[in-house]
Amino acid sequence: MCGITGIVTEKSDNIGELLVKCSRKLTYRGYDSVGVAAVRNNKVDLRKDVGTIDEVNRLLGLSTMKGDRGIAQLRWATYGAPTKVNAQPHFGCQEVFYGAHNGNLHNYFEYKAELIEAGHVVRSENDGELCVHAVDKYYEETGDMFEAVRLSAQDLKGAYAYAVGRADEPEIYAVKMGSSLVAGVAADATIVSSDLPSVLPLTNNVVYLADGEMLVLTHNDVKVYRIADGKQLERSPQISNVDARAAEKGGYPHFMLKEINEQPKIAQDVIGLLDRPKSEEWLNLLENASRHYIVACGSSYNASIVGAYFFNRLAGLPMLHAIGGQFQSMYGDTLNDECLSILVSQSGETKDVLNVLNMIKKKDLGKSLGILNVIGSTLMFQADSYIPMACGYEVSVPATKTYFSQSIIFAYLAARLGERNGHIDPSEAKSFIKRLRTDLPSLTQTTIDRTGILARTLARTLVDVKDLYCLGYGFTDGVAREGALKIKEICYCHCEGMYSSEFKHGPLSIVTDNYPVIFVTTTEDSWMVINHINEVKARHGRTIIIGEYEESLQPYVVNKQDYLVVPKSDVLINPILDVIPLQLLSYYLSVDLGINPDLPRNLSKTLTVD
Ligand code: F6R
Repeated sequence: MCGITGIVTEKSDNIGELLVKCSRKLTYRGYDSVGVAAVRNNKVDLRKDVGTIDEVNRLLGLSTMKGDRGIAQLRWATYGAPTKVNAQPHFGCQEVFYGAHNGNLHNYFEYKAELIEAGHVVRSENDGELCVHAVDKYYEETGDMFEAVRLSAQDLKGAYAYAVGRADEPEIYAVKMGSSLVAGVAADATIVSSDLPSVLPLTNNVVYLADGEMLVLTHNDVKVYRIADGKQLERSPQISNVDARAAEKGGYPHFMLKEINEQPKIAQDVIGLLDRPKSEEWLNLLENASRHYIVACGSSYNASIVGAYFFNRLAGLPMLHAIGGQFQSMYGDTLNDECLSILVSQSGETKDVLNVLNMIKKKDLGKSLGILNVIGSTLMFQADSYIPMACGYEVSVPATKTYFSQSIIFAYLAARLGERNGHIDPSEAKSFIKRLRTDLPSLTQTTIDRTGILARTLARTLVDVKDLYCLGYGFTDGVAREGALKIKEICYCHCEGMYSSEFKHGPLSIVTDNYPVIFVTTTEDSWMVINHINEVKARHGRTIIIGEYEESLQPYVVNKQDYLVVPKSDVLINPILDVIPLQLLSYYLSVDLGINPDLPRNLSKTLTVD
């Protein structure tokens, strides 16, 4: 949620152009409003409004703003409606201090009242403004910008990061307290940002930060300090090998379609990564724990459900799973120091998941294993060990390739564990892994090619639908939920994902003539799913089927596009592939509805709030 970028240059006067170019790479973090504060000759020019970065740039000429330093912010609204006054950056009491934040202040109301009581002029309902006032307040007391920023962080409770400056001082300062922040040192400029993609257009010379640290940026240096005592910390820049082209569309109309089409390569890359000796460490963690949990949100949670089925089938391991926000009240009291919690998060920054990790670490409740995509994320630094998803940057707000990678990681780990603990015959485990390694990439490509055409046609027939179900059974449980989430998220249409045998226990009453219900099935479960299909057909509902081709399903297919046939594979590989037609269906439906699937309304890719 929200993205901040601060840049200090040596002598260039084109700060607006640089900030727009770099901040555009953070669009997935927020597009409710955008602002830029540019400093020239010790005066701050602040322009902001409601809309995406391209809309606000067109309106206010952000990229023409002059100056040698400045801060930009892309907002995903939490405190305060998405209005111009709540847009960031903000000024302090006068137009001298300027700054912007990402995250949430938990003491917003108390602190705002305190500042107003002390005479501060607070103009908005946005918590980011208080970060700037806090610096303003301590500057009044100390007359020193470094101390003012350091002390300001001690007043602000919550999980956040902010960048702030003073019109007549050449530095930009930044604070990290629970939200992501990364810096970069280029030949003639420095940059601080919420996320790596906006640093890469300037440099791949990257400085990572930990919570409780602050930065001072000058045009040629980034210095890191500990907030608690102001001590300077040694932190040399590292070369990032993340490919900046990941943040380009590469000829596709949307990032989502590009990312769906990257999945054959991801199948290959992720297995290559798992095949390395490091995986012994992850398997040891799994093997040595007495109880196992998975914690995740959204799509990562749906992949975790698929994971639980793999661990059961291939390793005989019960995997308790819960969404991040639910975990403590559902399983918190059952944790002990022999447990393993697997925390799955593409961004590695999801607060609901990090809350669980913090609790585990604070109370010493066993080991933690992160599964994450963003290198340098909080989850990566804080988990005992982590598995990278090997996806490259996922820019589109809806998760596609990262969900796909997660389900492969679970299948692989479960098979390797089953081989070790003897739950399955070692030769069976080896042959499954071999098929993942050799067959999955091409099967993924065939699935995209074959189901893409049908999904496009099917989407056209669903444009007027406002309500539907997507049902799975056994291994396709998580797949159906994921398909439903995609349709809800980018088509603004209610689609509920649930277990297909549950449908008759209530929801079936919604079915009338032509009411659409999607069934996702593997060949081992279709004998059962046919019963559920019959229950819908008998009420004149419209059934759409996703799975391998089966004669027994053919009588239920009225139109060709209502059976999205994935290529024949292994019954355990099939659930990994089945999500692809659902991704494609939601994509085409979204486009047919005139929605930009990359930036669905109200959402943000990185949710660093409770
Ligand atoms: C849906 C989607 C979200 C995320 C969820 C968790 O397409 O992207 O549901 O899956 O916000 O995000 P991460 O995986 O970053 O923890």
